[in-house]
Amino acid sequence: MKNIKENALWAFRNASANSLISNDDSALIFQSWDDLKFNLEQLSAIFDHPNATHAIAIKTNPHPSVLAKIISWGFSLEAASMEEVEMAIKAGASPNKIVFDSPVKRQSEIEKCNNELHGLILNANSLEELKRMPDNPNFTLGIRINPSMQMDSPEIYSVSNNESKFGVPILEKEALLNAILSHPIQQLHIHAGSQMKDLTKAVFAVRELLDLAIEANSLLEKKGIERRILTLDIGGGLIAEKYGIVGKMSEYAKKLKETCPELWDFELITEFGQWCHTNSGFIFSEIEYTFKRGEKQIAFIHLGADYFMRDAYTLARDFDIIALNNKGEENNSDEKYLHDIAGPLCFAGDYVLKGVKLPILKENDWLGILGTGANTLGLWSRHCSRTIPKVIGFSCEKNEIEILSERMNPFI
Ligand SMILES: Cc1ncc(COP(=O)(O)O)c(C=O)c1O
Repeated sequence: MKNIKENALWAFRNASANSLISNDDSALIFQSWDDLKFNLEQLSAIFDHPNATHAIAIKTNPHPSVLAKIISWGFSLEAASMEEVEMAIKAGASPNKIVFDSPVKRQSEIEKCNNELHGLILNANSLEELKRMPDNPNFTLGIRINPSMQMDSPEIYSVSNNESKFGVPILEKEALLNAILSHPIQQLHIHAGSQMKDLTKAVFAVRELLDLAIEANSLLEKKGIERRILTLDIGGGLIAEKYGIVGKMSEYAKKLKETCPELWDFELITEFGQWCHTNSGFIFSEIEYTFKRGEKQIAFIHLGADYFMRDAYTLARDFDIIALNNKGEENNSDEKYLHDIAGPLCFAGDYVLKGVKLPILKENDWLGILGTGANTLGLWSRHCSRTIPKVIGFSCEKNEIEILSERMNPFI
């Protein structure tokens, strides 16, 4: 397989050679099918679980063609809203390939799931929401547990503290066991946080979930109830790795096998998002113009806080960059200058990168930004009402490239 930079150059040049880029395309979003498939296959191989559903978080990249590919390769989808459930169905998912995790489901949505989506996997977010569930649901019912511990996710992505809106605190064990006895629950769910680096804590949280399931099953047996907790949904939460490396995910699965071996006796659901998507996407933008401010060269591109919303408003990721001249040739000059890459929005925080050393960028050059496949298009911001660029999908291995969606602006 080519590396991410070779992939990006291949895609840009082929898009250009096949006349997929028009004068209106000031920026383009690319989706690599080879890389997405590679990551998903790695995920499945690393867990090596006889009964696993790998449900990829839709919110991480909700492009309809991406969802359809994920389903066509035999994977499942995790939906955070009823709209995402509908998108999954439209992408070809049967209900049993959809995990519905919205923290706030309307009664009418629960009824629709029960009446029309038999086999769907639905996780209730709280004991209060559990009361809204039918007695004999046509969906598989789970309950989200909050591990009640401080994970090492950045504060804004932290979902596991005691005051979190997500899940029933595991400290309320008695209430949880009573709920499992009295409601048709067959599955326990956690999603402990995003961008977790400390795998020991993540594994500890899964161990707690497993212990609760084992205790609940022995209680169900003691009470003469046939139902059991059959499935553990361990959520997602792993930070993306450097391109082509799967070390963190392998380490996570290995630690889980050591500390939670019984997880392989239950059915397993995972809900990874950014780990799967990040390195399968990149963008190219034309450089509209540049100027000098102090020691730095400011280069204006056509995607900013609208596409890189999370990066602009929270923590900027450390993206790799490729500079191309206006003929699409790589600018490899050793003479480097300090640049700020500014987005197009009329907003002071709209910078994609600051203080990066690059060959001098010029008007009508192109800039490639790599590793943008997660939490970008799905978070598209309407601030300044700019147009969502064309999305192009490609496979270097199959020598295929095509437009997945044209430029669009829902308000014009
Ligand atoms: C319930 C749930 N599952 C899975 C994910 C995917 O998380 P990540 O991209 O960190 O793997 C999220 C993201 O917020 C989530 O809320």
